[in-house]
Amino acid sequence: MKQIVFATNNPHKLEEIRQIAGTNLKILSLAEIDCHDDIPETADTLEGNALIKARYIKEKYGYDCFADDTGLEIVALGNEPGVYSARYAGKDCNPQRNMEKVLNKMKGIENRQASFRTVIALILGNETHLFEGSIPGEITTGKRGDAGFGYDPIFQPTGYSLTFAELGEEEKNKISHRAIATGKLLQFLRNIL
Ligand code: IMP
Repeated sequence: MKQIVFATNNPHKLEEIRQIAGTNLKILSLAEIDCHDDIPETADTLEGNALIKARYIKEKYGYDCFADDTGLEIVALGNEPGVYSARYAGKDCNPQRNMEKVLNKMKGIENRQASFRTVIALILGNETHLFEGSIPGEITTGKRGDAGFGYDPIFQPTGYSLTFAELGEEEKNKISHRAIATGKLLQFLRNIL
């Protein structure tokens, strides 16, 4: 069976993709290849960071590999927080502080369009492939709902009257940026493996 490493330390992401991938593809975690490194994410684009992580594993451990990076891109803020989504509020950031910062910056702004965007970089042998998934929506004026994580309580996908945090994980995972990018990756792998 084909083995491939998913360069993430997030057990939820790993479980989610293992479920979607089924039994034809063995997806290894970083722990399973004995990688406990703090892989640097120093690029200033989502594509760049996904590539850094995937290349790091391929070069240091020799495994075919994929890695993802996600950001919330808000039109009126010049696509901020984007690649800096996880640490938007600075040194003592956490999801609550990150959301407060967004809500404060968006006070009084009418154009609330935003999207979540995920990029997955895949390295197979000496080939590199990129897959992207994005979902449009808008930034709400306050937090709503308590499911999910990150910016879910302030993001309402287009065509819905609920935020990601109100929709709940099952509904969100059917339509999310990550689901779209992951679907493209798995479709590609199914066709070639
Ligand atoms: P990562 O690249 O998947 O680690 O995502 C970077 C950051 O983007 C996270 O720390 C969250 O702040 C935010 N983020 C990523 N995906 C989501 C999501 O599905 N909902 C809400 N926030 C997200």
